[in-house]
Amino acid sequence: MCGIVGYIGEEQAAPFLLKGLEKLEYRGYDSAGLCLNDGGKLVVKKSKGKLQELKILTNNGDTLHGTVGIGHTRWATHGEPSDVNAHPHLSESGRFAVVHNGIIENYLPLREMLTEKGIVFRSNTDTEVIAQLFEYYDQGNLMDTVIRVLSKLDGSYALGVLCRDHPDEIIAVRKESPLIIGLGEHENYIASDIPAILNKTRNIYRLENDEIAVIKRDSVQVFNLDKEPIHKELEVVDWDIAAAEKGGYEHFMFKEIMEQPKAFHDTITPHLKDGRVVLDEIHLTADQIRSFRKINILACGSAYHVGVVAKYVFEKILRIPVEADLASEFRYRDPIIDDKTLTVVISQSGETADTKEAMKEAKRRGSHVISIVNVLGSAIAKESNDVIYTLAGPEIAVATTKAYSTQLAVIYLMAIYFGDVLGKITDTEYQYYLQELQAIPEKIQQILEHKETVQYLASKLFHCNDVFFIGRNIDYALSLEGSLKLKEISYIHSEAYAAGELKHGTISLIEDGTLVIALATHEELIGKIVSNMKEVQARGAYVLCLTTEKHQELKSTSQSTLFIPSTCDMMLPSLAVVPLQLFAYYVAALKGCDIDKPRNLAKSVTVE
Ligand code: AGP
Repeated sequence: MCGIVGYIGEEQAAPFLLKGLEKLEYRGYDSAGLCLNDGGKLVVKKSKGKLQELKILTNNGDTLHGTVGIGHTRWATHGEPSDVNAHPHLSESGRFAVVHNGIIENYLPLREMLTEKGIVFRSNTDTEVIAQLFEYYDQGNLMDTVIRVLSKLDGSYALGVLCRDHPDEIIAVRKESPLIIGLGEHENYIASDIPAILNKTRNIYRLENDEIAVIKRDSVQVFNLDKEPIHKELEVVDWDIAAAEKGGYEHFMFKEIMEQPKAFHDTITPHLKDGRVVLDEIHLTADQIRSFRKINILACGSAYHVGVVAKYVFEKILRIPVEADLASEFRYRDPIIDDKTLTVVISQSGETADTKEAMKEAKRRGSHVISIVNVLGSAIAKESNDVIYTLAGPEIAVATTKAYSTQLAVIYLMAIYFGDVLGKITDTEYQYYLQELQAIPEKIQQILEHKETVQYLASKLFHCNDVFFIGRNIDYALSLEGSLKLKEISYIHSEAYAAGELKHGTISLIEDGTLVIALATHEELIGKIVSNMKEVQARGAYVLCLTTEKHQELKSTSQSTLFIPSTCDMMLPSLAVVPLQLFAYYVAALKGCDIDKPRNLAKSVTVE
């Protein structure tokens, strides 16, 4: 998704802006640009492609002069990736420059209106409309102009605006798209995400919807749409800089895979007190919990895959019907949901547009929403009734790993907590689950220590063109994630299938050498999955089987086997996902793929 960074201070702005944009590259982008106020003239440089192109164009920022500037990485929505569609966008006479994250839904009628007034557009973007509106409505009072322009916009936006006639300020505005203000010494910053400014400051303000910030070198003032000043609470970011950097690893994804024991441990520890699971974040009485007739899970991508695991876990332990819904589909199917349904929303970023909108729909229909979110203070965290944070730390690689693992950790905590409240688990089971939960980080560590086994298999198999991940029950839920991980970073076609479903059509795709990754961790169904492995082998498939250490016999029914330690059934995905992440990583590395920033993808998908 797009990234915004801005600087106002006493130094040259361009080098900081380029560095800041580098830190936002993980969000995914296809073009980048800068605008600086150079002695009363707004100078724009932008380029399609990677940031490197912009660096070459500006000689690492040296050819751009000025101590006030804004920068942007664009992920195309309206108009193809191109130099001209890249941000910042200037108004017709060059008096205003705008960078924008989000989507202006009514940009077409606005564009038509402005075109009729004789304004000529240069790009195909929705964003240029904003720059043109600024000039069209400007009558000399910048704040009035901002408010007038905002009143015309429908949709979502985080904006950074420069005005040629106000060389000593940046305007920042937000609606439904995150934007922060960083506070420095005689300099201030704006950014769409914390890593962009972390090397400069830890003191930030988070802009809320419909707030307008006027940022100068020595002051930051925030107003509402009635021009009333707003007092902002200072937030001190406690992220470790190293946590937002690669820390010696070649890729963020690998670093984040390796961080999983700690992330899992950090997430569960605050919730374990005196041998009990404590979830103080959940503001529901025991009677309210007992009143729920259904659990609805809303999420996208990997977070949705956690939801599918949760369906198996909650149904088995709580004996309540559970639906795991793709958030992008949920609100368009007139869902049956009310105050007797508990909604669980899962999102690493807390800003995913589809998930956020689905959550709002669930709330509108009376459902109590518990969110599982990684990014503190994000929109989903704020708008849900209760939020349980995953303590994964910043996740930079587009392909999620440690966030997925920590989301699972919260699902187990919830299963144990609700299971206890509902009287569905015995004391012995309670203690057993707790003991297994606490042992997971150590077991993940053991798997990581044998990562070379996975690396070797990747080196044997990375030439494959099609891969099928098969599994039953909770292994099917896991196969969804294994398959997504592989395809998103290695660009190898892969599908996840419920193993019993293959014979209803898909088995016709199996031919000599097709790689089938069979997940065989779910104890009760090992026999069944073995039959499915034999079915595909009989048709020429190469089977890589992932199972638990106690099933050494599966070596003889597969061409290659990977083993993980045992644990209780519901927690097996936390162990089994690790070799799958590693496999995807090593295959992508061997293919020379852009692992942390796969093509066409964005870390945080803030458009519908
Ligand atoms: C997975 O590797 C992807 N990055 C993607 O599927 C992601 O999980 C999805 O876009 C949801 O993001 P969120 O957790 O930030 O809401």
